[in-house]
Amino acid sequence: MEQKELDKLLADMSLEEKIGQMIQPDGVFYARESETAVTGPLAGLGYTKRDLELAGSVLGIYGAERISELQKENLEKQPHHIPRLFMLDVIHGMKTIFPMPLAQGASFDPEMVYQCARMAAKEAAVSGIHVTFAPMSDLVRDARWGRVMESTGEDPYLNSLLTEAMVKGFQGNDLSEEFSVSACVKHFAAYGAAVAGRDYNAVELDDHTLREFYFPAYQAGIQAGAGMVMTSFNTLNGIPASINKKLMRDVLRKEMGFNGVLISDYSAIWETLAHGASEDAQEAAQKALEAGVDIDMVSPAYHSSMENLVKSGKVKEEWINEAVMRILQLKNKLGLFENPYKDADVLKEKQILLSREHRNLAREAAEKSFVLLKNENILPISGKQKVVFIGPYVNNPEIISSWAITGDSRNCITIEQAGKEIEEAKQWKFYQGCPMFGNDYELVGFREKTPDKMSEDEQKRLEEEAVSAAENAEVAVLCLGEHYLQTGEATSRGMLEIPDVQMKLLRRVAEVNKNLVVVLFNGRPLDLREISGMAKAILEVWLPGTEGGHAIMNVLTGKTNPSGKLPVSFPYCVGQVPVYYNSYSTGRPNSPKLRERYRSKYLDIPNEPLYPFGFGMSYTEFSIGSIKVNRCIVTKEEPVIAEVTVKNIGERKGVQTVQLYIQDEAASVVRPVKELKGIQKVELEPGECRQVQFTIHEKMLQFFGTDGCLRCEPGTFRIFIGDSSTVEENVQICYCDS
Ligand code: BGC
Repeated sequence: MEQKELDKLLADMSLEEKIGQMIQPDGVFYARESETAVTGPLAGLGYTKRDLELAGSVLGIYGAERISELQKENLEKQPHHIPRLFMLDVIHGMKTIFPMPLAQGASFDPEMVYQCARMAAKEAAVSGIHVTFAPMSDLVRDARWGRVMESTGEDPYLNSLLTEAMVKGFQGNDLSEEFSVSACVKHFAAYGAAVAGRDYNAVELDDHTLREFYFPAYQAGIQAGAGMVMTSFNTLNGIPASINKKLMRDVLRKEMGFNGVLISDYSAIWETLAHGASEDAQEAAQKALEAGVDIDMVSPAYHSSMENLVKSGKVKEEWINEAVMRILQLKNKLGLFENPYKDADVLKEKQILLSREHRNLAREAAEKSFVLLKNENILPISGKQKVVFIGPYVNNPEIISSWAITGDSRNCITIEQAGKEIEEAKQWKFYQGCPMFGNDYELVGFREKTPDKMSEDEQKRLEEEAVSAAENAEVAVLCLGEHYLQTGEATSRGMLEIPDVQMKLLRRVAEVNKNLVVVLFNGRPLDLREISGMAKAILEVWLPGTEGGHAIMNVLTGKTNPSGKLPVSFPYCVGQVPVYYNSYSTGRPNSPKLRERYRSKYLDIPNEPLYPFGFGMSYTEFSIGSIKVNRCIVTKEEPVIAEVTVKNIGERKGVQTVQLYIQDEAASVVRPVKELKGIQKVELEPGECRQVQFTIHEKMLQFFGTDGCLRCEPGTFRIFIGDSSTVEENVQICYCDS
C-alpha cells in the first residue's frame, strides 16, 4: 500500500478500531475452546468479546492452519479488514532448536548466528508467525540473573555484532519477502542489569554507563532495521521503562532514530501499579502512551482506559494516530495488506520444520558454540578406548532451554543416542548415575514438569552402578549441569554451582578414576572451582539444542575441533559477581605480583575470574606473533593497520578467534582497562600461518564524553591482539586530530 492509502485508512478508522490495533491479548483467549477461556483469565483482564475481535495482534499462537483460520475470522470481523499480526517468542529456533543465544555468542561468529536466525525465521514464517520477540540485546554482567542465557554476553561490541546478525537473519532483505519475520529488539532498556541479579528488580545506572555499555546493542538492532522494540520490566533510575517518556521518546525515538513499533513487555504497563508509579490502569495507560508505547502486551491498561482518556481530553488522539500508523506501517512492510496469510503454509511446515538442512545447521552451530575450558591431554577420546559416560545428561533430551517454547525435546539427540551410532565405539557404556536434583530441591512456582523425585534406594543403586563402571574404565565422561528450568526468565540464583546430588556423584567417581572429563550443560556462568580441580578436561556445551548429542560426540571424538570462546566471564566464585573484563581502571590497580595492602583487591579471592571473557581452547595450539603496525598515528583520515602472524603449531586443523582489544591510556573520562574492537576467525592446517590484519579507525577510539556525545580525544592508546581478554602483548599508538 502507498502511504497515502494508509493515511486514508487511518482517517477512516473509528477510535474503537484504533485502540484495538494497540492491544495484544494472549493467544489463550483465541483457543478453540475459547468459550471457557472467556470466563477464565479473560475475566481478570477484562477484555470484552469486541476487544478480542478488534485486537490488532495476538501473542503465542502458532501453526499455519490455526493462524490462517484466525486471520480469516479476523478479516471478516475487523471493520476495515485490517490483517492481524501474530507474534511469538522464537528465540533460538522454532522446531529445530539451535544453541541458546549465549552459546551462539560463544561462536564469536556473526555469519553463523545470522544463518541460525534465517532458518528460525523460515520455520516461524511457514508456521504463520509475523513477528518474533528476539533478539534479546541486553548486556549481562551478572551470572545470577537467569536470563543471561538469552543474551549474547557481557561485551557491547560482540552483542552489537550478534544483534545485527540476528535482526538481519530474522528479517531477510525485506520484510515483505518470503520467510521474513519482523525482529523485536528487547528489552529496552538495561533489563540485564537488575540489582543483585534478581529478575524484575530495579536498575540503577548512570547515563554514561548506559551509553557506553548497555545501549550499543539495541542501537545496532535499530540500525539493522528491526521492525519492533520491546520495553523492559524494570525501573530505570526510578521510572518503570514502560512509562519512561524520556527513555522512550528522547533516547529511543530521537537519539537512536527508532521509528518502528514499540511494544510493552508482558503486562508491564499494568505492573507500573505494583511499582507504585501509576495509581490505576488509566494513569498507567496515559503514561505509557505519553512515552510512545504503541502496543500494550496483555494488560488491562489500554483497552480499559484509552477511550475515556481520549474523550476526557487527557491524551491527544494524535498520539493514538501516531501509534496506530506505526502498527499499520509494519503490517504494510510485511506485505499483509496484499497477503494477510503471508507464508503460513501447512505443506511447507511439513517440509521445512526439522528438515535435514536445518538439523545440520543446528549441529554445526552447537559444535561452534562449545568452549573447551580445560584439557590435560585427555580429549579427544577414541572409540577404541574404554569410556564410560555418567550423569543425568547422558540420556536426557531436555537440552533445548526454557526459551524454546515451540521446540520439543523429543526431537533431540542425546549423548547416549549419538554415542551408540558410532560404529567403533561398541564398548562405550552409559549410566545415569544420579537424578538431576536431590529430593530437597524445589523449583518454586514452576508450572512445567520438574523431574520426579527418586527414592533414596534407587539413587544409591544408580550411583553404585556408575561408580563401579568408572572404576574399570580408561576415561569417565561426566555429563552434568544445571537443569534447563534453572535458567531463563524468573530463575535468578544466589549459588552458582550445579545441583549437590551431581557434585556428590562427581566426587565419588573422582575417587576411583582420575581420567575425568566433564561435559557441562548450563545456561549461565558457574562457579567451577571444584569441578576444575577434579576434571582433566571440561567441555562447556551450554544448552545445545536439537542436535546437541551429535555435536557433543563430534567434538569429544575430535571429528570437530572445538573453537568457542567465552562471551562472559566465569567467576571465581559468586562473591566476585558482577565480574567482567572491560571494567574501568581504578586508582589502585592490583596485580598478584604486587602483594600490597592498599590495592583494589579481595583478601580471600583473586580479582580475576576463573575463566575469562574470550577464552577457549582447541585440540591444536596456535601461536600469535608480535604486533606490527604500518604507522603509529591514527588520524581522522588515516587508520593504523595492525598485523599479527597466527600459526597453527599443533597437529590438527583448527580455528582460532583472533581478538583485538584497545585501551585508551588517558582521557577526560576514565576508560575501561580493555575493550574488544575486532574479531577474526582463522582456520589453519597444522603448520600453516596466516597474517591477520585489523584496521584501526578513529571511530574505534571514540567514547562517550560527559555530555553524552561520542568523541575521540588525542592521546595514546594500547593495542592488544591475542586469543582472549587476558592478552598482554601490546603496542602503543596515538590519535592526532590534526
Ligand atoms: C518476557 C519477554 C517475552 C514476553 C512474551 C515476557 O515474560 O520478558 O521476553 O517476549 O514475555 O512471551
